[in-house]
Amino acid sequence: MKISNGSGKALKILITAGPTVEKIDPVRFMSNRSTGYMGYELASEARRRGCPVTLISGPTCMKPPKAVRFLRIESARELYTMVHKELSKADVLIMTSAVCDFKPTHILRNKIKKANLFILKLRKNKDILASLSKRERENKFIAGFALETKNLLGNAQKKLEEKSLDLIVCNKADKRNMPFGTGLKTVYLLDKCGRKKKLEKKNKVQIARAILDTIEELCYTPN
Ligand code: CTP
Repeated sequence: MKISNGSGKALKILITAGPTVEKIDPVRFMSNRSTGYMGYELASEARRRGCPVTLISGPTCMKPPKAVRFLRIESARELYTMVHKELSKADVLIMTSAVCDFKPTHILRNKIKKANLFILKLRKNKDILASLSKRERENKFIAGFALETKNLLGNAQKKLEEKSLDLIVCNKADKRNMPFGTGLKTVYLLDKCGRKKKLEKKNKVQIARAILDTIEELCYTPN
């Protein structure tokens, strides 16, 4: 199935994937366990459906999917700048990125020596989805992801509302369901009209298809 707008033109899809990486000193960084797999699967599936796709990716071990415009970033700040730059050319934004919420207040010029006890001071990175203005969001479909260790649906609903999203994909991280990498995952899709879909024990190809089917449905549902 081709994802298209009312006039039958394929929707232009902007996807962000993978972790962000925040430098500490010339040899160290802080990051998270995101593999980028979900975003890369979404990019491949959207291409298969005939959509022009731009994929903005943090550092991962994955090969960029064929026929996808591929942009690399490292830090949350670079991702922020790139999303704001690219969104005007897209109809749909899907933020699968695991953005580092914090970064060191200073990047040290020299390697920190282990003999020196030190305290790493952090400050918050900007929230990229929350920073999108009304004008930037106009006529766009915006989807985010939520990763929670408790109160999955409650916290995800809060993110959906606070970040003014059209759709949120909710992932619980616990012993039975680690959202990173391959394997079968259980996720929920919550949309801004209050509908909830459970995808039980699905691989990420199946999850990518279900997300794009839902985006297509919602793009045609008047609210
Ligand atoms: N996100 C973002 N900018 C950030 C952090 C997250 O745009 N600085 C996006 C993510 O790409 C994701 C959604 O917001 O689509 C939710 O991310 P998540 O890590 O689940 O939650 P946070 O908003 O970071 O909140 P918390 O860490 O407190 O759960």
